[in-house]
Amino acid sequence: ISLKPYNTFGINAIAKRFVNVNSTKELKQLIATEKDIFLLGGGSNMLLTKNIEKLVVKLNLSGVIINETPDDSVFVTAEAGENWHDFVIWCIDQNYGGLENLSLIPGNVGTSPIQNIGAYGVEIKDTFHQLEALEISTGKIKTFTKADCNFGYRNSVFKNDLKGKYIIVNVTFKLTKNKHNLNISYGAIQKELEGVTAPTIKDVSKAIIAIRESKLPDPEKIGNSGSFFKNPVISKDKFNILQKKYPEIPHYVVSNNEIKVPAGWLIEQSGFKGKRFGETGVHEKQALVLVNYGNATGEEVHKLAQKIQNSIKSNFNIDLEIEVNII
Ligand code: EPU
Repeated sequence: ISLKPYNTFGINAIAKRFVNVNSTKELKQLIATEKDIFLLGGGSNMLLTKNIEKLVVKLNLSGVIINETPDDSVFVTAEAGENWHDFVIWCIDQNYGGLENLSLIPGNVGTSPIQNIGAYGVEIKDTFHQLEALEISTGKIKTFTKADCNFGYRNSVFKNDLKGKYIIVNVTFKLTKNKHNLNISYGAIQKELEGVTAPTIKDVSKAIIAIRESKLPDPEKIGNSGSFFKNPVISKDKFNILQKKYPEIPHYVVSNNEIKVPAGWLIEQSGFKGKRFGETGVHEKQALVLVNYGNATGEEVHKLAQKIQNSIKSNFNIDLEIEVNII
């Protein structure tokens, strides 16, 4: 079957064998005989550059469980196949706070910890409590605490030492019931909330949705995987040299000796913003997003990514790291 409807980039790669899995029990049964599988969640962080020979397993595990506590927190466990944004909106409707800044991020709950999804000053590690994952080699369920996951910027143990070894089946978040800690420090959020006195988590979510819709392409209309690259972290020395040449360079201080520079700015300065190359291109409103105008192949998009990497290397002497999984 074609995987085009199953990846947000809308790449037409073919799966020779494909199976839907609807429960942890079904998953365990499958894993007992098939170990060499290709897992598919929301398909929002991958670029398919070839057909898939392995058995493609689409994880549809669904359901949400609530565990109230006597204090102001609530533990909410969502199954891996729940759509991320629908889950965030459900939490907001229950007046559970903590995930509102992560509204409208494509993908499913089960893949959100792998890259520690983040936006507008919040990462999932901030409300993450624990997750359960199936070990492929043994078929056993293991619980991972926050420390076990080793979260970093767009990073976790599941992208490193444990890559391909576990299947995340559910994730538990610790959310607030009444006293919400709003994170509205980003200028864009403040602007969006102008005139709103005492904003609620719903107001924040609405603001985030408006901001994202204004610059990120809707995958239903134009295929994409969100930010294609990570924002590079460079040394202070390197940054000082760059800043002399480009006094207006945007940046965030990460530590005493490290500065993060927006990849979108580097790409825009290099002249790629809004440029089309056949069926692929760089989004006109956010240069960090590569798009598929309809019939791009994964190879074409990957070639464009490499062209951008080479250009950033020669213009700024910075190595841009791809954030999306290249398959
Ligand atoms: N910028 C440009 N040109 C562009 C894009 C950005 O000059 O075309 C500069 C601007 O100065 C802007 C700054 O970059 O002020 C930051 O841009 P933006 O707020 O759009 O955020 P970002 O750093 O480009 C990151 C995340 C996004 C997340 C936003 C908001 C990464 C790789 N990306 O983007 O995450 O939504 O911050 O927090 O860290 C994703 O991972 O798919 C994603 C969309």
